[in-house]
Amino acid sequence: MSTTSSQQCSIVAGGAGFIGRTLVEELLSQGRRVVVIDNFSRGRREHLSAFLSRHELTIIQADLSSRSQCEAAFESATGSYSVDEVWHLAANSDIPAGVENPDIDFKDTFQTTYELLRSMRRHGIGIFNFASSSAIYGDLGATTLREDIGPLFPISNYGAMKLASEAQASAAAEGFLNRLNIFRFPNVVGVPATHGVILDFVNKLAKTPEVLHVLGDGTQQKSYLHVSDLVAAMMVVRAKQADAKIEVVNIGPCDEGVTVKWIAEQVVARVSPGARIAFGSGNRGWVGDVPKFIYSTTRIQSYGWSPAMGSEAAILRAIDQIALQQKL
Ligand SMILES: NC(=O)c1ccc[n+]([C@@H]2O[C@H](COP(=O)([O-])OP(=O)(O)OC[C@H]3O[C@@H](n4cnc5c(N)ncnc54)[C@H](O)[C@@H]3O)[C@@H](O)[C@H]2O)c1
Repeated sequence: MSTTSSQQCSIVAGGAGFIGRTLVEELLSQGRRVVVIDNFSRGRREHLSAFLSRHELTIIQADLSSRSQCEAAFESATGSYSVDEVWHLAANSDIPAGVENPDIDFKDTFQTTYELLRSMRRHGIGIFNFASSSAIYGDLGATTLREDIGPLFPISNYGAMKLASEAQASAAAEGFLNRLNIFRFPNVVGVPATHGVILDFVNKLAKTPEVLHVLGDGTQQKSYLHVSDLVAAMMVVRAKQADAKIEVVNIGPCDEGVTVKWIAEQVVARVSPGARIAFGSGNRGWVGDVPKFIYSTTRIQSYGWSPAMGSEAAILRAIDQIALQQKL
């Protein structure tokens, strides 16, 4: 099929979601054409409202776990534009829902990867940027999570399907990809928030301003990265001239994170001062929750990237942004 534009084009799968919005903005600012493919299960067209008038942005609604819908979206994108890379951000973001019903992660987290790679092969697209997760490491307690440790035993279906996706992408790299970037994200915060601990707390306080019920005992400790820093890190990795075809990087702040108790206190102070915080029991918010992890970011830092915000600053900024988003 002939293309009508030589401008380089990125497909962003899941581009109408939380992280997708900032990524799309960055790619457009680089002078690229962008095709967002999203089924709008969690993503929203309004997230991209700032760019809807730009002729460089095309939005296609499709369920990427469906072979026919994925293929039709690729036919349409490659029929019009010179697509040279795919960013895969589409996944199930509700980890507890996937623990209840593993079909959700099989479909939205794994099958989307499988079908995207299949369509990329058919259309000769050689660069795959994959949004993986710290969840692939499982619960390794005090072990520092470096990119080269293994074997890995995830404890959620989400983590399992992300790890399976990495494996599928690795096989594709052997088969036809020119370049595979696997980004292992930490907890990412910012707007437009579609899920996550801050949105959850803000929404709970909007309903019951006098008390905040927290899942677990609040001692869970994790590191948090602001979405602006995350996207900047991905760009550093993408620009890197590497000998290896596959790049795997943990992306995260250079600290050991903050506790859920501390986050709850900050949200209460901003949204509903004086509210009582009622903690649950146990150090897991839900089955499949990893109570504490220590993330090595040595590799990404060696590429010259460091975050503008640590975990505390990222959380405080995101609380403010999310409170404004929720009109509080
Ligand atoms: N936000 C985080 O803290 C975090 C942490 C680790 C990894 N990740 C990964 O980063 C990526 C983006 O996450 P996010 O926080 O922006 O989540 P999000 O839910 O806001 O975005 C995911 C997008 O994928 C879309 N989607 C889901 N299933 C689809 C399907 N079958 N077909 C087409 N579109 C589909 C949703 O509508 C949504 O717009 C995901 O792959 C997620 O697993 C996020």
